[in-house]
Amino acid sequence: MLSTTLGSLQLENPVMSASGTFGSGWEGRQFSDLGRVGALVSKTVTVRPRHGNPPPRIQETPSGMLNSIGLENKGADYFLAETLPRMRQLAAGAGGRPGPRVVINIGGESVDEFVALAERFSAAGVDALEVNLSCPNVQEGKLLFSTEPRLTERAVAAVKRAATVPVFAKLSPNVTDITVIAKAAEQGGADGLTAINTLIGMAVDWRRRRPVLGRGIGGLSGPAIRPVALRMVYEVARSVRIPVIGVGGARSADDVLDFVCAGASAVQVGTAMFTDPALMVHIVDDLRQRLTAAGTTIAELRGCLHRPPDAAAPAGCAPAAHAPTGHGGQA
Ligand SMILES: Cc1cc2nc3c(=O)[nH]c(=O)nc-3n(C[C@H](O)[C@H](O)[C@H](O)COP(=O)(O)O)c2cc1C
Repeated sequence: MLSTTLGSLQLENPVMSASGTFGSGWEGRQFSDLGRVGALVSKTVTVRPRHGNPPPRIQETPSGMLNSIGLENKGADYFLAETLPRMRQLAAGAGGRPGPRVVINIGGESVDEFVALAERFSAAGVDALEVNLSCPNVQEGKLLFSTEPRLTERAVAAVKRAATVPVFAKLSPNVTDITVIAKAAEQGGADGLTAINTLIGMAVDWRRRRPVLGRGIGGLSGPAIRPVALRMVYEVARSVRIPVIGVGGARSADDVLDFVCAGASAVQVGTAMFTDPALMVHIVDDLRQRLTAAGTTIAELRGCLHRPPDAAAPAGCAPAAHAPTGHGGQA
């Protein structure tokens, strides 16, 4: 009922952690049985250690938060020696259950760095790689891999050649048309797509005449972005043939099922775990209840959204079937 597939990767259920919001899962193990989630996704790992951005790095916003962590991490050597064994321990499974899949999110400042990481983590036997395309390509004027279809395709194709495990490309919402980038990643050979990363935002403290975050701008996440994420998952799922992992503001089983209905094969939970670190496991339990009550399965529900009659028309262009009287039908 809950099982799902991401290409060749089978998941016991569609609930995954979102990169960077739950560390490796190790600190969260005391709050719930993480052996029951579908997959654990690591924070982005880079070739060398990164100190990240100056503080403050986090600011709460209405229904969400801004972060500018700056991909702080201890680098691939440390991760392979210290963090991966812990993730494996969490994912070991118990009582005949296979346990969660271990997905490593990788970030590079060049195609060569992505390739080096893909080789090392494949050799380490992780279950899948998630390619964080929201990284600046230092060889091409720091243009983000995620904003240029050519760079996306090149990075994904190189990772695919180097990897021996499934490769998911994580897309940024900060583009004009996410389907162009989605198709480029598919063209590069991605086994699946993760949509979406955070939306660029800003908080200002007018009294200090300064931005609140140390770096000035940051990434917006949480329920505030869920409508955008749902729309993008819907658009991406309709434009490619590979599976889509939905992410952005999910905090309940109903949210997960909304993403599945819009076309997602699995759903990551991120910011919502800052307020309830046991949330993923609660969602798994609630999913089972919801699907039993509705007499359906994740596989059956996936992409079953009925297309609105005027979906092709830009917002506001739909003819008003019953124009309200009194103000000429103008909203
Ligand atoms: C504090 C924080 C750190 C994050 N770090 C990463 C990261 O290292 N790599 C990455 O691909 N995404 C990162 N993200 C983005 C999340 O994985 C996710 O795409 C985004 O937050 C939207 O999902 P959510 O609203 O459920 O949090 C981070 C998000 C937050 C809030």
